[in-house]
Amino acid sequence: MPSVKPEPAAAPPAAGPLEKVKGQPQQLRGMKDILPADQPYWDAVRQAVERLAVGAGFARIETPVLEAASLFNRTVGQETDIVEKEMYTFLDRGGDKVALRPENTAGVARAYLEHGMVSWPQPVKLWYLGSFFRHDRPQAGRYRQFWQFGFEVLGDGHPVIDAMLIYLAVTVYRSFQVPVEIQINSLGDKNCRPAYLRLLGEYFRTRKNSLCEDCKRRLQKNPLRILDCKVPDCHTVSQDAPQIVDHLCQACKDHFVHVLEYLGELEIPYNLNPRVVRGLDYYTRTVWQVVEEGALETGGQSDLGGGGRYDDLLEQLGNRQVPAAGFASGVERLIIKMRERQFAPKVESPDVFLAQLGEPARKKCLKLYDVLRSIELKVVEAFSKDGLKPQLEVANRLGVKYALIVGQKEIMDDTILIRDMENGIQEVVDFKKVVPEIQKRLARVAAAPTDGRSKAAPAEQGSSSGGES
Ligand code: HAM
Repeated sequence: MPSVKPEPAAAPPAAGPLEKVKGQPQQLRGMKDILPADQPYWDAVRQAVERLAVGAGFARIETPVLEAASLFNRTVGQETDIVEKEMYTFLDRGGDKVALRPENTAGVARAYLEHGMVSWPQPVKLWYLGSFFRHDRPQAGRYRQFWQFGFEVLGDGHPVIDAMLIYLAVTVYRSFQVPVEIQINSLGDKNCRPAYLRLLGEYFRTRKNSLCEDCKRRLQKNPLRILDCKVPDCHTVSQDAPQIVDHLCQACKDHFVHVLEYLGELEIPYNLNPRVVRGLDYYTRTVWQVVEEGALETGGQSDLGGGGRYDDLLEQLGNRQVPAAGFASGVERLIIKMRERQFAPKVESPDVFLAQLGEPARKKCLKLYDVLRSIELKVVEAFSKDGLKPQLEVANRLGVKYALIVGQKEIMDDTILIRDMENGIQEVVDFKKVVPEIQKRLARVAAAPTDGRSKAAPAEQGSSSGGES
């Protein structure tokens, strides 16, 4: 049997720059392929979010990517940037005006009503992970198709719900060693906000000439949004604007104070930030954004996540008032932070590689493959290859612990070789005993304190050149 030098486990090659070849199709601007080398990060996020959600009593919900456009007009708001400028809206073949969902709170609220969740024990706690669409200007961390994970709690207006949601959001970032802080504000409710908006409108009207064109329009429609305009002149003007926290009614004030107290108990760092007004119309009372710790001092990059209370949204959809709150976080933005912090997700290696030499061995291995797979071993092969060297190169590249090799001699003796891919030591085993034998060895590996074979994420490594004979 030729000897093959063991190699450090490697992984799928990292993505290179996009190759644009004239005449060949390309991904659309703002859209992004998520390649094999990216997947360990995505798996890590999916697993962490699911574990957290399930542990906290949230049930998963999937809503369709396509909804009636009117759903978002009625909730996110007709005059928000999302609906006005960014939503992918079109008439379908039946003539219905539909939209690719730009966010999920509206869809979850629709599903809550449509499936009678109003009569379930309250609150109803739901989580999701899916992709969303906004025709925004693409840049780092901003895509036209992007992914969010989100948590929604419907049917409970207690301020502790807001604090718990913030806690859950922060927990996800902490689990990836991304330190974050919360920028928090209250937008009041329908009792106190109208008077504040009048006051704010008056303030900005007397300073209209200093505002950008967008904010001049916002002055008519939604002066709140002037507060988070990034244009320097607007930023300066809004510095002395009246702040909503000084104009909250007693009920909203009490709610907000309680949220802040609970955050204090949970030791979650937060900043009261009057500029956090959120770009969606459905919010009432508490609103927040998750930003990387210190981000605002170093030039205020985009938010990692955001959420808030939306006590009036279900009423806007024709139901009675049902208090609710939630948040969503961008998966791509979290992964950018994970990579910046050298987070190395684990890549799970297959257990066994089946190698064969000659047609009879190939056939015998096909049967063994089925047996090993049926006992839930992670088994890989390269049955289309003939020589042992190229097969063991694949085994090396995949970081497999053991290779099982059947050659002509093994066919004659009804044996099989078990090769430890780490040290190259091979042992002949009776073919009939191979299953318990490999199970025993794998159990030993699993019981060892560390198996030494968890690897840095593929994207952080180059690809292996494979073994040599
Ligand atoms: P949002 O602030 O519009 O809120 O989006 C939440 C997060 O999604 C953002 O903080 C960001 O991380 C990510 N995100 C948004 N747009 C993009 C984009 N173009 N590219 C990449 N990432 C993006 C909502 O969507 C609300 N539904 C959150 C919520 C849930 N409120 C209550 N419940």
